[in-house]
Amino acid sequence: MTPPEKSKSKQLRMVKSATDDGKVEVTAPAQKPRGGNDSACPRCFGTGLEMVPGEGARRCDCQMSDHRERLFQSARIPARYQHCTLANYDAGNSESMWIAKREAQVVLDDFLVIDGRGLLLIGPVGVGKTHLAVAILRELIDRYQITGLFSQFGALLRRIQDSYNPISQTSELTVLQPVFDADVLVLDELGASKPTDWVRDTMMQIINARYNDKRLTIFTTNYSDKRKNDADTIESLEDRIGVPLRSRLYEMCRTVEIEGEDYRKRSVAQNV
Ligand SMILES: Nc1ncnc2c1ncn2[C@@H]1O[C@H](COP(=O)(O)OP(=O)(O)OP(=O)(O)O)[C@@H](O)[C@H]1O
Ligand SMILES: [Mg+2]
Ligand SMILES: [Zn+2]
Repeated sequence: MTPPEKSKSKQLRMVKSATDDGKVEVTAPAQKPRGGNDSACPRCFGTGLEMVPGEGARRCDCQMSDHRERLFQSARIPARYQHCTLANYDAGNSESMWIAKREAQVVLDDFLVIDGRGLLLIGPVGVGKTHLAVAILRELIDRYQITGLFSQFGALLRRIQDSYNPISQTSELTVLQPVFDADVLVLDELGASKPTDWVRDTMMQIINARYNDKRLTIFTTNYSDKRKNDADTIESLEDRIGVPLRSRLYEMCRTVEIEGEDYRKRSVAQNV
């Protein structure tokens, strides 16, 4: 994982700073270019390296934003969820949504010390599980410049299946390696695929790899831990993913159950 350079770069980026006697001290910026290229970055003049007095050369901020942009692109966040942030997640007056939002904030703030412990967001359709998961993913990439990946479980399983097809020219590992390696992974819609033996084995392989490496994973699912009563025909999460996998999730994640109205319905109603 890329070590976060946050505090150091924050310090280095400061150009103006107040001294004890209240005066503003201006740290000398890097030298001006002789050629006078106005469109080049004023810090590194297009070289990508910024000279910091007393510190030597370091990667310039302009390169950092390029780097961040590349990280966002490789995270493959669907267009529909590009706007999702914690700030625009409206918890209204639902206690469970406030709890979910708070837990998401904890993951962001404590990322460096939580030892890969993620979230399992459980709830009915449209309560904002994917919204929250993407918000965490986006904000972690932005804050710590780490690698992230959004993956919808059903689509991932299909891509793995396709990789067995010689015409598709992908190997199973090409599909799986980014899923194993991402510093933060969103696995959306856990349990949505029909739980055949192959599906269970493959889920186990993926989740176990991340479990062993203590990598942060955020799961979403429509399947709850509890059936409402014994006669209830709706399967539980354990029914869908199996006992060994559910057991690993207890260790890998904090479980957060979200209750509430379907936000999609709410927003349609407000527009008419
Ligand atoms: N509390 C909320 N505040 C703001 N936007 C929300 C909220 N809940 C949902 N949305 C928006 O409503 C849409 C549906 O939410 P989302 O897809 O996250 O729901 P979900 O719980 O993942 O549903 P599903 O179980 O069907 O996957 C998204 O556009 C999302 O941004
Ligand atoms: Mg969803
Ligand atoms: Zn620059």
